[in-house]
Amino acid sequence: MNASDCDTDWIALLAARDGAPPAGIHSPLFGPVLAPPSAPDGCRVVGRLAQTLDGRIATATGSSQWIGGPGDMLHTHRLRALCHAVVIGAGTVRHDDPRLTTREVPGPNPVRVVIDTDRRLSADYRVFREDPPTLLACAEDARGGDRHGTAEVLRLPRSPAGGIEPEALLRALAARGLTRVFVEGGGLTVSRFLAAGCLDRLHVTVAPVLLGSGIPAFTLPEVPRIADGLRFSWHVHEIPPDILLDIELCRMKPGMAS
Ligand SMILES: NC(=O)c1ccc[n+]([C@@H]2O[C@H](COP(=O)([O-])OP(=O)(O)OC[C@H]3O[C@@H](n4cnc5c(N)ncnc54)[C@H](OP(=O)(O)O)[C@@H]3O)[C@@H](O)[C@H]2O)c1
Repeated sequence: MNASDCDTDWIALLAARDGAPPAGIHSPLFGPVLAPPSAPDGCRVVGRLAQTLDGRIATATGSSQWIGGPGDMLHTHRLRALCHAVVIGAGTVRHDDPRLTTREVPGPNPVRVVIDTDRRLSADYRVFREDPPTLLACAEDARGGDRHGTAEVLRLPRSPAGGIEPEALLRALAARGLTRVFVEGGGLTVSRFLAAGCLDRLHVTVAPVLLGSGIPAFTLPEVPRIADGLRFSWHVHEIPPDILLDIELCRMKPGMAS
């Protein structure tokens, strides 16, 4: 897969977004993302991160552009185009001020969902000022009104593990018809969905870079033995110079026997 992929294959896959069977060169990677939801929350959820060989998604100062190559960027925009909603954490908004659109590929923009538990972000970021629509997911007891800039505010229960409850967010999105959900980052946000057993699929790009320090990809509860780690199967795709690992999580979470 690379940035010059045959667009007709991509257009064929986009048709699968609306129910046609996935076909073509992209279907092994994206077919599982397009599968119907089977979890009780009503959503199909894919997480994604681009990390260095030593498991960092950004430098210690928060610089992450760009860990992956052009193929990773294309892949990220494709996931946005296939999903109804893209979820990111407040830390990523603060560092990157992203737009979260599909400008690199044909396909619709997803609804943007920013998790900012205590509403610490100002309304000056692009997601709160510009189209497409944004939902701000915060705690039920967070201060402020029903709008944050142009974004609608969604109030959800706090999780004892930190942040808001991922399951509650998924149920709220499903109630709005947003059933295919892309959790794009950063590391804490993807980790919280993973720790809650809320990811069907995880796409991890590994770039041939060592930073030696920086923001970690995964932050999960400590385990005492290797055997207690979360073990899974994966499919490896080449997106030179990187590799993309397509991981079948199937809603597993740390602490489950595998
Ligand atoms: N390589 C990649 O694939 C990739 C993808 C996305 C982002 N990134 C990078 O990852 C970094 C962010 O990741 P992350 O794991 O630190 O966080 P994140 O998952 O984006 O956001 C979640 C965290 O943001 C916190 N937060 C930190 N500072 C905040 C502030 N000033 N205002 C509001 N909330 C704040 C939240 O607090 P609560 O506990 O209150 O919820 C929560 O802990 C950025 O440097 C970004 O560039 C890399």
